[in-house]
Amino acid sequence: MPRIIICTLLIFTLLAILPPVIAAQTRAKTSPNRPINLIQDMDLQAKFKAQSENDLFADKRSQRPQVQGTVARNESYLDTHFNEGTVDGQWATTTPSQLPFNAALLTRGQERFNIYCTPCHGYSGSGDGAINQRAMELVANADGPVNGTVWVAAKSLHDATVTIQPMGQIFNTVTNGVRNMAGYGSQVPIEDRWAIVAYVRALQRSQNASIDDVPQSKRGEL
Ligand code: HEC
Repeated sequence: MPRIIICTLLIFTLLAILPPVIAAQTRAKTSPNRPINLIQDMDLQAKFKAQSENDLFADKRSQRPQVQGTVARNESYLDTHFNEGTVDGQWATTTPSQLPFNAALLTRGQERFNIYCTPCHGYSGSGDGAINQRAMELVANADGPVNGTVWVAAKSLHDATVTIQPMGQIFNTVTNGVRNMAGYGSQVPIEDRWAIVAYVRALQRSQNASIDDVPQSKRGEL
């Protein structure tokens, strides 16, 4: 093969390697410049960012307040019994009408309670959950405060201060938490929170049951 062709091939091969090398090098580095954006899609658009000025409006706010008379659809929280556990500003004493207190609700509540509440409050609700037991062990075996912290035991749900609480108040505790207990509003859907509350009531009742609570036909069964 003539020398000139070999040289030309060599030069073209070297030149062909250059673009990927440059691209690879550029990708590995940071740059203060904007990337070259060949395919724009909708990456760059004229828009007003939050808190920026907008001369179109007299008050120059780009974030506009809600239009007067806006009606919430599918997300109104007017039903305070269901959403907050209150009726006319007082804690509700029953479950909301859309969730009748029945065996189905209790079964669901038991299942959810056993998932979300037993680690601290225990299966019977008396405050002897596994986490509580472990913490008590650590506290008992430590010399002085444990890492500068103390353990607040989960409260027994059979404590008189809890048994006298209306259902709405317990619903509020489950939703928003209370003192050292975190709320479950963001994790447990609202219907399930009511189911849990119903089950807490049943648990409490179970500790103070009398023979009259057992139907005649079930007496004597194990
Ligand atoms: C991570 C541990 C933990 C979990 C899980 C937990 N709790 Fe608690 N709970 C506590 C502690 C601790 C307290 C006592 C808070 C205090 O007195 O500062 C408490 C207190 C309570 C009280 C008493 C409130 C009052 O007014 O005194 C209720 C009712 C209650 N919890 C219900 C529940 C229910 C229902 C669940 C499940 C959805 C649950 N808790 C899950 C730790 C927990």
